[in-house]
Parts: sequence; C-alpha cells; structure tokens
Amino acid sequence: MSVLKLYEYPDEVLRQKCERVTKVDSELRKFLDDMLETMYVDKGCGLAAPQVGVTKRIIVLDSNPSDEDLSARKPMHLINPEIIWHSEETVMFNEGCLSLPDQRADVERFEKVRVHYIDYNGNEQEILADDLLAIILQHEIDHLDGVLYIDHLSRLKRTRLLKKLEKFREDHEKA
Ligand code: NI
Repeated sequence: MSVLKLYEYPDEVLRQKCERVTKVDSELRKFLDDMLETMYVDKGCGLAAPQVGVTKRIIVLDSNPSDEDLSARKPMHLINPEIIWHSEETVMFNEGCLSLPDQRADVERFEKVRVHYIDYNGNEQEILADDLLAIILQHEIDHLDGVLYIDHLSRLKRTRLLKKLEKFREDHEKA
C-alpha cells in the first residue's frame, strides 16, 4: 500500500463533479487500499477520491479509526455512493476536513441517510446510517460533487475559517 498525495483547498480538483466508476477491478481495489491507508496516516475518518486528485465517485471512511485497537476499526469503501433517502430531522456536527487542515466548524446535516453503493467486491449494497456514520457519508459524498463543508457555512463564518486556515499555513511554513 502507498500513501497518496493530499490536495488541499483551494485546489481546483476539489471543485470538480466526479465521474461514476464503471468497472471494479484489481487496479481500482489497489486505489481503494491506498486511499484507506492515506486516510489512516493523515488521521481522518473519511476521504474522497478528489482529495487525492482523482475525480471519480469513490469514498473511504471509518467511523471508529482507532490507532490503539486496530481490530476495532470499521473501514468501508464505497463506489458510486448515492443518498437515496434522508430523515427530515437534522443535527449539528463539528466537522473537519483533511483538505482544510486544522480547521473545524459546525455544519447542519440530516440525522439519518440511506445510501446505495458498490462495495470493494463490485456488489451492490445499501446502508441505513445514523450518528457519526451518517455525517461522514454526507460530508464525503458532497466531495464527489465538488462541495466542501465550508460551503454550508454562512459567508461570515466561512471567511473567518479561511483566514484562520491562512494563518495556520503561515505559522506552519515558519516552523
Ligand atoms: Ni472532507
């Protein structure tokens, strides 16, 4: 497995509408493995293909990305994921994103979602998700349409967050 290069805001690749995958083969599975490895190394709980520069409808996630207990991990690979139902109820969750390092903000999401997808072996699957898993799914599926969580914030909050990101990067360069 290899760790892939992460693309960060404001890279244009993060704003593309991704294409559906038509074939699940060993080459794609290698990419799925690499995506998951990259996600764990960078301490994320979800990663979408455009974040590693590939504009295809693929996400990986883990709602329990434990470093101490590897057997507690719950890795998932989702190809062509699609939200086919969502609850009326919404929840607020404090989200972050590997493409906007060191930043977080409260985002409103549906409490529950039902997602249809193709799995690692090329089989069709459906999952009814709530809690953290529902949040991660919505965040990552957004990425496949070029949407970032900051797009859900008010203009004022977004501007503040992007200023903080700029400051973080300046401090990071100096260090
Ligand atoms: Ni993200």
